[in-house]
Amino acid sequence: MRKGQLTKIAVFASGSGSNFEAIAEQITQGKIDAEIALLVCDKPDAYAVKRAEKHHIPVFAFRSKEYSSKQEFEQVIVKKLKDAEVEFIFLAGYMRLIGETLLEAYPEKIVNIHPSLLPAFPGKDAIGQAINYKVKITGVTVHYVDAGMDTGPIIEQESVRVSNDESRETLQAKIQRVEHELYPKVVKQLVAKTVKEEEIDEKARVN
Ligand code: GRF
Repeated sequence: MRKGQLTKIAVFASGSGSNFEAIAEQITQGKIDAEIALLVCDKPDAYAVKRAEKHHIPVFAFRSKEYSSKQEFEQVIVKKLKDAEVEFIFLAGYMRLIGETLLEAYPEKIVNIHPSLLPAFPGKDAIGQAINYKVKITGVTVHYVDAGMDTGPIIEQESVRVSNDESRETLQAKIQRVEHELYPKVVKQLVAKTVKEEEIDEKARVN
């Protein structure tokens, strides 16, 4: 029975980890009933790791080349996640495609944030792609993860206006401001929804 227990989540990052920190801060402020039980990072020197240390969040940092396959390091990750009783995974700048091992261990429980209005500009450098196309509107998408590259059902989107003199840097700053509001909001909603569903299941079992 989960009553009074916080939902445990993991965040996966490869870089700066500003989205990770935005979620961690809202949790610290008591705005989300969750606990980040683990930061998974495939770049041990990434700034995201420093941010986790500051927040006293456990880290699993690894180098993919020290494993013989994606399956092998994902098996290790799954074991760490299960040991930490993680229920949800939020990708925040994790620069790898999620493989079968993780997808099968966490069906419909892996979520990603992408800096464009998907299905436009999937993959790398979505912000650069938007600038090159001279689009007038781009944005941010939060979506469930499947085996594809930035595919998977969309959960939430928010648009960002691109001005005529927009540079990569200014657009990135605008997008990140939106991300830092939107991602914690979605984390909060999904965690609350899971708790509700579990309570309904529990009630059905008791009655
Ligand atoms: C974000 O723009 C996110 O949309 C993309 O990678 C970036 C990660 O930034 N998937 P950060 O590491 O959270 O600062």
